[in-house]
Amino acid sequence: MLYEPRPELTETKPVPGFAQRVFSGIQPTGNLHLGNYLGAIVKFVQLQQSFPCIYCVVDLHAITMPQEPAELQQSIREVTAAFLAAGIDPVKHIVFNQSRVHEHAELAWVFNCIARLGWLNRMTQFKDKAGKDRENASLGLYAYPSLMAADILVYRATHVPVGEDQKQHLELTRDVAQKFNNDYSGRIADLGFGAGYFPLPEPVIQGPATRVMSLRDGSKKMSKSDPSDYSRINLSDDSDTIAQKFRKAKTDPEPLPSEEKGLESRPEAENLVGIYAALSGRSRAELLAEFGGGQFSAFKQALTDLAVDKLGPVGKRMKQLTADPGYIDQVLRDGAERASAIAAPIMNDVKDIVGFLR
Ligand code: TYM
Repeated sequence: MLYEPRPELTETKPVPGFAQRVFSGIQPTGNLHLGNYLGAIVKFVQLQQSFPCIYCVVDLHAITMPQEPAELQQSIREVTAAFLAAGIDPVKHIVFNQSRVHEHAELAWVFNCIARLGWLNRMTQFKDKAGKDRENASLGLYAYPSLMAADILVYRATHVPVGEDQKQHLELTRDVAQKFNNDYSGRIADLGFGAGYFPLPEPVIQGPATRVMSLRDGSKKMSKSDPSDYSRINLSDDSDTIAQKFRKAKTDPEPLPSEEKGLESRPEAENLVGIYAALSGRSRAELLAEFGGGQFSAFKQALTDLAVDKLGPVGKRMKQLTADPGYIDQVLRDGAERASAIAAPIMNDVKDIVGFLR
């Protein structure tokens, strides 16, 4: 166990009236980085102690942007390896790739008919990813949040651990669940499902690193798509690369402050202190009491040692696991079978509610 459970995650608010269940997903689109790890994967690992969890490699989402097929297959295995290397238990919980469970795409279609164009027009991730050439973006990229709502609700999941950047998509998921429950309220009651068929899932965004920023620019989030590899620490980076990236990380000329207030308007310093806090489990205040007044070079060295210590074993285990694709594929197949067993009856209920014959 790399991390002890933290109270803010184990004391997650229950969603009344539903079996409590965690769902989350990661796209297999290139290198996983420290933001994915601290913002999502560490929380996935911790939540296993309190909930049944379903963790999904969302390959249907990946193809909303062009992907090279052989690289996509490799990335699916790599994300799975990262899950397992970080400590996700694929026997007690469920790990699978999305395209194997057809109910995700099926429910997404129903949700395409529930979600309103106005809701999707507000999604900032679509605006960012589509860029200036919106006319040329895929319809899939536009409908992405509706598929994400289906991912969560096809298991009637109640809790969704994610980084800050996914908050808007989770709000849309709640809107979709609410509108479905309202639009079909009579039918849901007639079929004996009570007040609402879908839960309104709770985002789990707490924790010290909900938004890890680029090492080159403290105003941009750390991202797979940043052209500079120096902007991020990849889970696959070796210790020399981690050291070099932290050494080159942008800072400002001032020494570190001794109190948290001193981090205001110093995004790069704030980011590095936040990363240290998340990796060590110590508070920012405690860290600044120790490192405040000192130069960045000493802090960066301590941060490098800590990061190598925490991430090194994960990277090493990931390499061992990706060397055995047969094992990874077996985990994904088995996980998909168990995920389907949960999703299929829920999809059947949805068909009955909507009025399809089956
Ligand atoms: P994705 O693949 O972009 O990112 C995976 C997870 O990593 C988090 N994350 C970060 N957290 C902190 N700091 C960062 N710099 C950072 N960058 C990424 C993301 O918030 C996410 O939790 N749409 C989702 C995938 C998805 C999903 C779902 C998630 C599809 N269906 C259903 C939850 C439930 C995405 O693109 O994540």
